[in-house]
Amino acid sequence: MRVLVTGGAGYIGSILSRMLLERGYDVVILDRLFFGTDPIKDILDQVKLIKDDVRWFDPSVLDGIDVVMDLAALSNDPTGELDPSKTMEINYKGRVRVANLAKKKGVKRYILASSCSVYGFQEGVLDENSKTNPLTTYAKANLLAEQEVLPLADKNFVVTALRQATVYGYSPRMRFDLAINGMVLGFYKKGKIPILRDGTQWRPFVHVRDTSKAFILTMEADEEVVNGQIFNVGSNEQNYQIFPLAKLVAESIGLPFEYEWYGFPDHRSYRVSFDKIAKELKFKPDYTPKEGAREVYEALKDGRADPDDLRTITVKWYKHLLYMQKFLREVEVNGVIL
Ligand SMILES: NC(=O)c1ccc[n+]([C@@H]2O[C@H](COP(=O)([O-])OP(=O)(O)OC[C@H]3O[C@@H](n4cnc5c(N)ncnc54)[C@H](O)[C@@H]3O)[C@@H](O)[C@H]2O)c1
Repeated sequence: MRVLVTGGAGYIGSILSRMLLERGYDVVILDRLFFGTDPIKDILDQVKLIKDDVRWFDPSVLDGIDVVMDLAALSNDPTGELDPSKTMEINYKGRVRVANLAKKKGVKRYILASSCSVYGFQEGVLDENSKTNPLTTYAKANLLAEQEVLPLADKNFVVTALRQATVYGYSPRMRFDLAINGMVLGFYKKGKIPILRDGTQWRPFVHVRDTSKAFILTMEADEEVVNGQIFNVGSNEQNYQIFPLAKLVAESIGLPFEYEWYGFPDHRSYRVSFDKIAKELKFKPDYTPKEGAREVYEALKDGRADPDDLRTITVKWYKHLLYMQKFLREVEVNGVIL
């Protein structure tokens, strides 16, 4: 069985691609490689890599593909605001393009990497039937993509949207702009965990290998269980308030709990129900934030993760790429020779 992973060289995609290989699937990665090929360098001889863009790749890429896992995106809120029209082009229109082409080409299943951010911030515990309240361009693009790809579902084309919680844990494309990973980085660099005021806000979390497992479970599930369905990806017990979570991170690393506040009080809080994925897909996480924090700390200590690599803060890296693009255009226009 041949699986196309768009964004397969990214934080989640590079782990998911490895897990697919471990289970014996053929893997094709389609990625613009904004973060380079380093995250997948050790599996390059086992996958087919296509360096291209979801907005304009040649549809023949989908020939012979059985399943598409669509992860390519500008992957967080601040990045999504750098150029909102590009975010819409990639995260909304790009995914709708991938899904439509996949259906036309006879691909059997399509899984969309969506996000719990579509709920915005609301009181209570939110499930897949709760009203959505997307507050950012990133969240709006996710919701629009869901709304256009889910109706493509029919008996020959199984479509599922996975609304992932905030992910944590080590990946070869490291992201320190995610809450738990960022806490570990602060601890590593300054001996203090940065905590966004006032620490009482709730957020749902999931480990990067667990969310990857959810993609695989979705692909392997009976089609009547997943077709046209939305699943929140995470687990009820991994809804955390930020301050206790920071304490847990310190404990897991085995250092005294030192912290520093930053930002304005964040009153945006939300909790998510993961009953549906537990019941329907028998999904249970294998990892907790304690293990995730420890493995990220170990990766920093043994040099697998670079604490000063600009690429690990997604918005900073995309800003840098945009700056370089503008600079190079100016060089071209003015005929400046470097
Ligand atoms: N990490 C999280 O906490 C989280 C939570 C919820 C949802 N998600 C979603 O999961 C998916 C993967 O997230 P991630 O954390 O791995 O992000 P990431 O930024 O590490 O990976 C995204 C990958 O997509 C590629 N890409 C970007 N634009 C592209 C384009 N136009 N064409 C082809 N490739 C392109 C990038 O090069 C990158 O390798 C995204 O859709 C993201 O929105 C992530």
